[in-house]
Amino acid sequence: AGKQTLRIMISGAPASGKGTQCELITAKYGLTHISAGDLLRAEVATGTDDGKKAQEYMQKGMLVPNEIVVTMVKNKLLEAVDQSGGWLLDGYPRSLSQSMALDALDIRPQLFILLDVPDEILVQRSVGRRYDPVSGKIYHLMYAPPETPEIAARLTQRLDDTEEKVKLRLQTHKANVAAVIESYKDVIKHVDGNRPKAEVFAEIEKLISELQEGVTEEVSAP
Ligand code: AP5
Repeated sequence: AGKQTLRIMISGAPASGKGTQCELITAKYGLTHISAGDLLRAEVATGTDDGKKAQEYMQKGMLVPNEIVVTMVKNKLLEAVDQSGGWLLDGYPRSLSQSMALDALDIRPQLFILLDVPDEILVQRSVGRRYDPVSGKIYHLMYAPPETPEIAARLTQRLDDTEEKVKLRLQTHKANVAAVIESYKDVIKHVDGNRPKAEVFAEIEKLISELQEGVTEEVSAP
């Protein structure tokens, strides 16, 4: 098969494993990974006015206003489309208005992955999560421990990864996810995210290969 451009969205509750699966998906398929949360954290880190405002909402586990987030994601997405590569959109859209903003640009996914993980698991995943600022890799003190003492020593923790804040983020997720699901119900696939990460990824690989076969058939039909 020739080069195919995959267009994938991934969604799920806080700490359901979106970032972890995105690492695996991009390593295998070479898509441009666009994470709304990562873009916002980068903006916060540079200390711009938008970053300062965004941080107020992120600390409360609330959605950052569209005037900040929509343009930020749109620019990255249009860049990816321009480079004719595929994209993997992580944590966006998170509301009906965000999915409508994408519709207005004629941007729709071929696959919308929804990671299902029970609420009680999300808290322990979140509080044990750590980041390696050097490689950008996501770790967990119990489930995905760092490979060397050197990496362990430099791991950082997100400010919103406390039990209290995860619960707020989960409330926000629950209040908004139904509208997003409704927008993409034609391409949505539920994936049980409460399994070892390699098993979750194996199922995602299967979904992507089904998609690629479908795309190939369409292209090669007379
Ligand atoms: P964002 O950064 O997107 O946070 P989130 O949705 O809460 O998701 P997380 O990044 O916490 O989790 P994840 O699903 O990526 O899990 P991970 O793979 O790390 O958003 C942050 C904030 O930004 C929001 O609260 C909001 O304020 C704002 N924002 C973002 N998008 C926005 C938007 N569109 N509009 C407005 N505002 C927006 O895994 C978690 C842990 O579990 C890790 O330690 C990992 O090692 C471990 N783990 C992963 N998979 C497994 C597994 N299968 N088994 C065991 N452990 C696992």
